[in-house]
Amino acid sequence: MKKDLLKLLDVSGEEIKLILDTADELKAEWKAGKKHDFPKDKTLVMIFAKNSTRTRVSFEVGMTHLGGHAIFLSNADSQLGRGEPIADTARVLSRYCDCIMIRTFDQEDVEELAKYSTVPVINGLTDFSHPCQILADIMTIREHKGKLEGLKACWIGDGNNVANSMIVGCLKCGMDVSVACPEGYRPDKQVLDFANSFTGAKFELTDDPKVAAKGADVIFTDVWTSMGQEGETEKRMKAFAGYLIDDSIMALANPGCMVQHCLPAHKGEEITEKVFEEHAQEIFDEAENRLHAQKALMYLLMKQNTGAVAK
Ligand code: CP
Ligand code: NVA
Repeated sequence: MKKDLLKLLDVSGEEIKLILDTADELKAEWKAGKKHDFPKDKTLVMIFAKNSTRTRVSFEVGMTHLGGHAIFLSNADSQLGRGEPIADTARVLSRYCDCIMIRTFDQEDVEELAKYSTVPVINGLTDFSHPCQILADIMTIREHKGKLEGLKACWIGDGNNVANSMIVGCLKCGMDVSVACPEGYRPDKQVLDFANSFTGAKFELTDDPKVAAKGADVIFTDVWTSMGQEGETEKRMKAFAGYLIDDSIMALANPGCMVQHCLPAHKGEEITEKVFEEHAQEIFDEAENRLHAQKALMYLLMKQNTGAVAK
């Protein structure tokens, strides 16, 4: 695996499988009350320029489970918020810690941090992607369905950061992917170029949620207004009218179709309360699996990293 996990475009299908297999093992071990075989003195620094509940808590708890420690650094009250360059921040943090997780706006900032860091950098969400979320989602689908290859994964709603990662991750795991987004809210061009030239599974992009949902084994959605887009809320509510996941959409899917939502959800907007509650087990398994998938990622990346200056 590469030193960092910046986006799923950088990771192969085999590497995703390794992360998922490791996550399953760590999850089983932890549930059986066993301690993990991992050095006890590792430190993760978590940089947040946006809000978080799941990402912050699951990474911090994950480090506790691995016998290490996590430090929360908000953009606003660190020197990053006063303009200290990312390249310098990366070189400083690399002297102290064993891994860096960052949630911010520009994907380029995460790439810059990784370029100058000698320790692994993990993307905890940017405007472009949310790879940790999709690792957890794919883990959840495999737990519930017992397989990935040949399933049909469907995205309905905004072609946002989570959608970008979902398309790449699901295709690389051998799932067919269909996406329904209104024009103007489609996934990133880099992701569409990847999907359209991918030969291992089928990809379909439409503006009709009914077409996308047909024969689906798992339907994904997310909020229509992501963090940083609050000023566009009204415009977005109009653009996404008709993209609600309700009983009529679920009726078009395969029997036993799962629902995945990264959370937080705006029930009554992108998904009805009824569909959400009927699939709450899958959705909260998904939230739980953030912990296990990220533990696996930290475990694999920290174990393989030999470039750390301070060690
Ligand atoms: N799904 C997710 O990343 O949640 P948080 O924003 O709470 O971290
Ligand atoms: N698309 C959402 C995901 C939140 C976890 C956002 O970026 O705000």
